[in-house]
Amino acid sequence: MNLPISASSLYERVSRVIPKAEWLTFQDDVEAILELKRRHNAVILAHNYQTPEIFHGVADIVGDSLALARKAVEVDADVIVLAGVHFMAETAKLLNPTKTVLIPDLEAGCSLAESITPQDIALLRQAHPGVPVVTYVNTSAAVKAASDICCTSGNARQVVESLGVPKVLMLPDEYLARNVARETNVELIAWHGHCEVHELFTADDIHQLRENYPGVTVLAHPECPPDVVEAADFAGSTAVMSDYVGKKRPSRVVLLTECSMSDNVAVHHPDVEFVRPCNLCPHMKRITLGNIRKALEEGRHEVTVDPAIAADARRAVERMLAI
Ligand code: 13P
Ligand code: SF4
Repeated sequence: MNLPISASSLYERVSRVIPKAEWLTFQDDVEAILELKRRHNAVILAHNYQTPEIFHGVADIVGDSLALARKAVEVDADVIVLAGVHFMAETAKLLNPTKTVLIPDLEAGCSLAESITPQDIALLRQAHPGVPVVTYVNTSAAVKAASDICCTSGNARQVVESLGVPKVLMLPDEYLARNVARETNVELIAWHGHCEVHELFTADDIHQLRENYPGVTVLAHPECPPDVVEAADFAGSTAVMSDYVGKKRPSRVVLLTECSMSDNVAVHHPDVEFVRPCNLCPHMKRITLGNIRKALEEGRHEVTVDPAIAADARRAVERMLAI
């Protein structure tokens, strides 16, 4: 099987995680996307949960939610395609109001973003007068606008402590709030939102993994329930987990997070054995090479933020980025 030069050299990168026959089904879209990016002066920002043919094949910038927000500010392009979920595209638009931001599928949502509204925040503020509101970036722009400051899983404790107050409303991820609460003296009032992917992991899964894969290092995302984080060896955002593998080089590791993450990290670490329980995020998986190509061909789906809330939402994100 002969591949054209550029697709062939790209294939070298992903050959450990994508069979060649499967890559051949991707190569036409990969070639077309690379050309469309040049033609439209576009860049693709991809979250760590995107599939390897997107992550390693066509993305220009990859990372966790914090890195994508930070790097969105520095992008020098006319068009940003966000290969991730809607709140990430909204954040990129907030930080780049004059650029065109596209998301390949408008339905790519998030159970956390769905779990809370600005009206909920107004009621919480009434119930807890004077208590500042920290919201996870996994929220709509309207919810960000109703908040004092945003955070991600990579900086949550830092953000909470930066406020210099004894009590904070930390919304909407209950488990993230409870996991951060174990590390800080600040009292955290939580909401009842959960990530539909991470809430599926249990402490019992970890016990079984340790039994079946002796010596395995268990890394968990802080959206997992607190007893899971407690039973793990280490917890951190997707980028922090990836850095951990790069620095510590465990001989055997399991990442308790979305499925594609292990594939993307494994590409860089042939010496590490990845154990892969697979929980897929159905929202992240809505993004495909096919709809990225369509997004670039047809300029769809353009992400906009209501001007009535954009300034307040941007302020909450920028306040986080300034920390
Ligand atoms: P991070 O990449 O910021 O760790 O977030 C994980 C996540 O679930 C994003 O939707
Ligand atoms: Fe939302 Fe969870 Fe999917 Fe991340 S993995 S986008 S938090 S549902």
